[in-house]
Amino acid sequence: MARTEDLFVTRIYRADNAGGARLNAELEHAALELSVSDRAGRRWCEAHGYPGYTSYSSLNDLPWRIAGFKRLTRVIDRHALAFAKSLHWNLRGTRPVCDSLWVNVMPEGGSHTSHIHHNAVISGTYYVAVPDGAGPIVFEDPRLGLMMAAPPRSAKAPRPFRAQVSETPKPGTLLLWESWLRHEVPLNRAAGNRISVSFNYCLA
Ligand SMILES: [Fe+2]
Repeated sequence: MARTEDLFVTRIYRADNAGGARLNAELEHAALELSVSDRAGRRWCEAHGYPGYTSYSSLNDLPWRIAGFKRLTRVIDRHALAFAKSLHWNLRGTRPVCDSLWVNVMPEGGSHTSHIHHNAVISGTYYVAVPDGAGPIVFEDPRLGLMMAAPPRSAKAPRPFRAQVSETPKPGTLLLWESWLRHEVPLNRAAGNRISVSFNYCLA
């Protein structure tokens, strides 16, 4: 009797309602305030053609600066450890700890091209505000570069077989993935800002 087996798993971890409405309101207020007051961040966005605002290059202490980000980090810590365990990592006494965390305010027309997160083991995004129609985040099969002669997969293939997989978040959604997994954020076609917090975790 023949059988097939699915191997070399790539996991995407999703938790909805990971933070409550009150935390989201606090984070939204903080993000919009930073998008005005963080002049170094605004200069970086302008210089690098980044649509909207990110604190990625200007502020590396948000959890110490603003209580809402500290509370969010505690929430993510728990999920990151659960994700690490679900991946069957041999942690050897370490655990995933937050290495960097930044806020993104992406307006209508904004996008973020395909990338990976260097120098980290778990990366992810927590969604604070998602206007209707803001669109998904798209993950790419990490083996795609090895498949030059392979046929494309059927448009109706189940998700585990697709070369690109979309995940559409809601406010309060937390997504985690292994940092080497390439992903992109297609054009935000919705009127209004998509506000999110992205982060990298290392083992320590
Ligand atoms: Fe990213």
